[in-house]
Amino acid sequence: MTDPAVTYASYLKIDELLGLQQPRSPGPEHDELLFIVIHQVYELWFKQLLHELDRVREWLEDDEPHRAQHTLKRILSILKVMVAQLDILETMTPLEFRTFRERLEAASGFQSDQFRQIEFVLGVKSPGAIRRFPEASRARVALERRYQEPTLWDAFLHYLSREGYGVPPSHLEREVSVPIEPSSEVQGILLAVYRDDPKNAELCERLVDLDEGVQEWRYRHVKMVERTIGAKRGTGGSSGAAYLQETVGRPLFPDLWEIRSQL
Ligand code: HEM
Repeated sequence: MTDPAVTYASYLKIDELLGLQQPRSPGPEHDELLFIVIHQVYELWFKQLLHELDRVREWLEDDEPHRAQHTLKRILSILKVMVAQLDILETMTPLEFRTFRERLEAASGFQSDQFRQIEFVLGVKSPGAIRRFPEASRARVALERRYQEPTLWDAFLHYLSREGYGVPPSHLEREVSVPIEPSSEVQGILLAVYRDDPKNAELCERLVDLDEGVQEWRYRHVKMVERTIGAKRGTGGSSGAAYLQETVGRPLFPDLWEIRSQL
């Protein structure tokens, strides 16, 4: 017997996909569907971002800076869409959100393992984020693996070293799970790159775009949170907007920002 022909619905698993939105409010409340759809769409974009970030790291490991830049451009386009999508959720008023908020119980984007995976690849790693997930679960296994893996910044420093820049061994052999700290030695190298090495300066600019894009998402998310729940605590148990404010404006790659006043 031959397999049935592939169709739009069979290839994209449309029936399964459309069955995944299950509001918890009785009725259900009109706005809960939007809340579910937008979070699911974000999780799909997170999946794609991880796929592309892994690719950028591989291109750098393979000394393919142009391909790394090409993939970074795609990542930036996705980030722009992710930021723009917050506009849709901002059409939901505080009262509309209240119609179903208590149904979320302790659920929160705070518990998104894919968001933490993205942070890990970008160098924001915390063992606490791993422990929140049950042992041997998909999320825990993925986070444990990424905790041990070099970050995108580590791959970039190794690449610069192979390009002939004198990246100190202490940076090349650093413990990849600790946060990325500013370094005057790396800043000296980046200044040389910006002044005399257009190919790699372009690559640096795309990393700055990426850093700025993530900061933009954090800023827009906290503003949306402020206008929707004000100073109320988050469903995930944090202080809410006050907690989120602390994460805004922190650069992923501090050296790339530090050097700008010296250029
Ligand atoms: C009405 C809409 C939203 C509200 C009121 C809201 C509220 C919050 C709050 C209060 C927190 C802090 C943690 C906690 O819950 O205590 C948080 C964290 C978070 N939210 Fe949202 N959120 C909304 C929409 C979204 C959407 C659409 C996403 C997309 C996936 C998202 C992703 C996240 C992530 C990833 C965190 C963790 C941030 C971090 O720890 O740095 N949120 N959210």
